[in-house]
Amino acid sequence: MKPFYVTTPIYYINARPHIGHAYTTMVADAIARSRRLLGDDVFFLTGTDEHGQKVERAAQKAGMATPAFADEVAGAFRQMCTDLNISNDDFVRTTEARHRKAAQALWQRVVDAGDIYKGDYEGWYCTVDEIFVPETQLVNGTCPTCGGKVERLKEESYYFRLSKYQQPLLDFYAANPDCLQPHFRLNEIRTFVEGGLQDLSISRTSFQWGIPVPGDPRHVMYVWFDALTNYLTALGFGGDGDDRVARFWPGVTHLVGKEIIRQHALYWPAFLMSAGLLPPSRIIAHGWWLMGGAKMSKSVGNVARYQDYTRVFGVDGLRYFVMREMPLGLDANFSDEGLLNRFNADLANDLGNLISRATTMVHRYCDGVLPAADAGDALDAALAVEAASVIQDVLGEFERCQTSAALQRTWELVRSVNQYIVKREPWALAKNPTQRALLDTTLYHAADMLRIIAALTEPVMPAAVARIRTMLGIAPEPWTGLAPGTLAPGTRLGKTEALFPRIELTVEDLRAMSQSENPPAQAPAAEPAHPVGTPATAAAPAPVAAAPAVGEPRISIDDFMKVELRVGKVLEAEAVPKSKKLLKLTVDAGTEQRTILAGIAEAYTPEQMVGRTIVFVANLEPRKLMGIESNGMVLAASVEGGLPTLVSVDNVPGARVR
Ligand code: ME8
Repeated sequence: MKPFYVTTPIYYINARPHIGHAYTTMVADAIARSRRLLGDDVFFLTGTDEHGQKVERAAQKAGMATPAFADEVAGAFRQMCTDLNISNDDFVRTTEARHRKAAQALWQRVVDAGDIYKGDYEGWYCTVDEIFVPETQLVNGTCPTCGGKVERLKEESYYFRLSKYQQPLLDFYAANPDCLQPHFRLNEIRTFVEGGLQDLSISRTSFQWGIPVPGDPRHVMYVWFDALTNYLTALGFGGDGDDRVARFWPGVTHLVGKEIIRQHALYWPAFLMSAGLLPPSRIIAHGWWLMGGAKMSKSVGNVARYQDYTRVFGVDGLRYFVMREMPLGLDANFSDEGLLNRFNADLANDLGNLISRATTMVHRYCDGVLPAADAGDALDAALAVEAASVIQDVLGEFERCQTSAALQRTWELVRSVNQYIVKREPWALAKNPTQRALLDTTLYHAADMLRIIAALTEPVMPAAVARIRTMLGIAPEPWTGLAPGTLAPGTRLGKTEALFPRIELTVEDLRAMSQSENPPAQAPAAEPAHPVGTPATAAAPAPVAAAPAVGEPRISIDDFMKVELRVGKVLEAEAVPKSKKLLKLTVDAGTEQRTILAGIAEAYTPEQMVGRTIVFVANLEPRKLMGIESNGMVLAASVEGGLPTLVSVDNVPGARVR
């Protein structure tokens, strides 16, 4: 069996996963599944990046010990894999002993190659991206990648001789033009390397949450040196047991977001070359999910939670949407409108109609047993030719990790089969006994095409495809030998069911359901104002907005007094149907009763709310959520990704809070 190794980035655990992490993980899953269908020996790795200052600070902010915080948030990423039906073969955590061994073994090899020396680092550091930022690359004093604040560092540091690898890297890019895709990204990185490389600081002394440097434990490894090694850790590198490096390395596909290209296509190959290993054979850089025009980001907080969408659209509905909507390498908008439209058009309508027609008519006209086809006419022949060509194209798109193109092509076949059925009008043929053979032929081909469409869709929607196969009465099938006409006549079909019922919710309903988790975006520009890897000498990038500091910008007391905060007492509370987050509260507001919807149902039961004193904004314009008018907003505190805690004061209903 051919080895095939695919990885996601390992995710920082400074906050819980959002759609961005879910996306990369789902795409990697689809790629892994597609290779298993081709019979490859697949190893699919994901995991969490747990060291570094950003994580240490997030733990402090949450008031937790760092290891306990790490366990909790890493658990949320592991749960994401379970929730989204991810078929990973391993989940690596950088706090594991096996990883510490691997990172220290790699470090030692680089030392042995004479590529590490001690010096002093003085300069800027962005903790959000965990990168050193040369003074010349600052944008109005902020990080060029995320637009956030940078900090001045002055500390002893070990350096990696990155400058030594300028020419070897350029040679590697020239000999392996497919090593970074889309190809324009390789041009960017090549230009950057051609501009000259400076040695890289690879250790820190000002905090301890990291892997100690071998022989000098005052230093912890720079988090990227530590993190990149994870891809070898899982192969047993530096361990005492099963070493699978020779089997799976360097034939790896690293799937990453475009903001971490430099680390993967430049630092990582250089570290590996120094350690006497080959660079990764393929890095695929995808674009960003944007929310309100800005990159969805944990550090900014403008995130959509995958749970809010799987609850409404199902796991496969979400998997289909993200993989269809984002062409590889480009950014895409994550919007409720987009999701509703695509779900209803492609799944409920196109695929749903096909499933229903192809299976219901076999039940109705053939007692649920698939008839045999005869030679048919030009229409049948054209359909078979198209199906064969779609199979070939879709397999090629998966090989290139182009899930959107693969699904687009598959849906061309879905539409063609629907048209084929409409043109043939089997319901009319069924009325005329002399047309029996043509009816049987039509029903056979419709079911056979549905089988092919299911097979091609399996990497993206594995659970839905299992249900389609139950309806067709067939077993799973590999992609090897996938061709039209192999469905066995005489197959007894299972019961037809509605796989993707149309979703009748409005965009407002959806928003209300995920409301409390999504503060308005205050993010930097969608794309760093200059492409990743542009040398410092390139034209000055346009300024990007910095992430606001706590309490900035300041407002006047008059501004504050415009907000009328009042004490209320909850008289009644009930869950809002179809919403996981909202409670409907009837509140004694002193001189009147108010209906207020609050996004607190995950933290409080209706029973816990009755009799409680709350603080609410009394002069907000009324807003309709899930068809109910809310007259005010309840105040609650939460850390990002955490549950809300209600603000409460000991006073009478109606009292003003100021
Ligand atoms: O960078 N759109 O971790 P991270 C699409 N620990 N994908 C997104 C996204 C968005 N808006 N936001 C995040 C790190 N992602 C390092 C990686 S690897 C050795 C170390 C996805 O938690 C995307 O894959 O910031 C991106 O590269 C990754 O999450 C970054 O996750």
